[in-house]
Amino acid sequence: MKIVTSAAELADGCTFIPTMGALHAGHASLFQMAKAKSDFVVASIFVNPLQFENNNDLELYPRTPDRDIELASSAGVTHLWLPQESEIYPANFLKKSAGSIGEIFEGANRIGHFDGVVTVVSRLFDLLRPAHAIFGEKDFQQLFLIKTLAREGYKDIEILAAPTMRESDGLALSSRNIRLNESERKAATVIYRALLAARNNSKIEAARAAMQEICSMEPLFKLDYAEIIDEDNFATATDSTPNQRAIIAGWLNGVRLIDNMQMKPSTVNTGAR
Ligand code: PAF
Repeated sequence: MKIVTSAAELADGCTFIPTMGALHAGHASLFQMAKAKSDFVVASIFVNPLQFENNNDLELYPRTPDRDIELASSAGVTHLWLPQESEIYPANFLKKSAGSIGEIFEGANRIGHFDGVVTVVSRLFDLLRPAHAIFGEKDFQQLFLIKTLAREGYKDIEILAAPTMRESDGLALSSRNIRLNESERKAATVIYRALLAARNNSKIEAARAAMQEICSMEPLFKLDYAEIIDEDNFATATDSTPNQRAIIAGWLNGVRLIDNMQMKPSTVNTGAR
């Protein structure tokens, strides 16, 4: 694996996985997916100051450079790009807006976060010009907004979604999981159980109520939202929405956890029995 500090050292047309480091098995699965697709796999590590609400969060963000290099190299990354902030954000860079969908759900909780995400991703795309870019489904709203960004400004970049990696008890892999103590870690499984319960309901109202009820039985977990959305536009789903997804977020002793799961395809619009 070659380590570079500037995109000028890299040709166009790679398969690209942008990250903020603190890499774990979830990232490794994205790298492996890229490796199966291409023999030119670029991963970047850039802790993007624009997507943090305050300096404290930015400073507390885990940084594990030696482990990251080892994991990227063993999971199939051929080029690791470690940009300087001045390359990503030159004096004249333009800040992008994620629009109204950047202000709901995760965006309502973290003001300006998705503007920062779409800004950095567009700068990374401008500098690197990849052929494909891979993002995890775990951050489903981020994936949605990046697909929108690509559709509007980067039609030549194919955005690929990688399925969420889970622990054996269902907890979605996340760099934040290491901040949970033993009892919080156990309590965190409530999220997966709530999503499964939602999935077993064909009616939106019942699915939402099932998630809320399961979460209310776990005293350590403070639910922020549990909703069923239309995957195609992120609006609240109705019973006749064909592509529904359950999304959930909440807190465990100050650690914010999010997850989502595709609902069983609705039979209403397809005519299927
Ligand atoms: O998901 C992430 O790690 C970040 O939001 C991303 C896409 C690398 C942008 O900084």
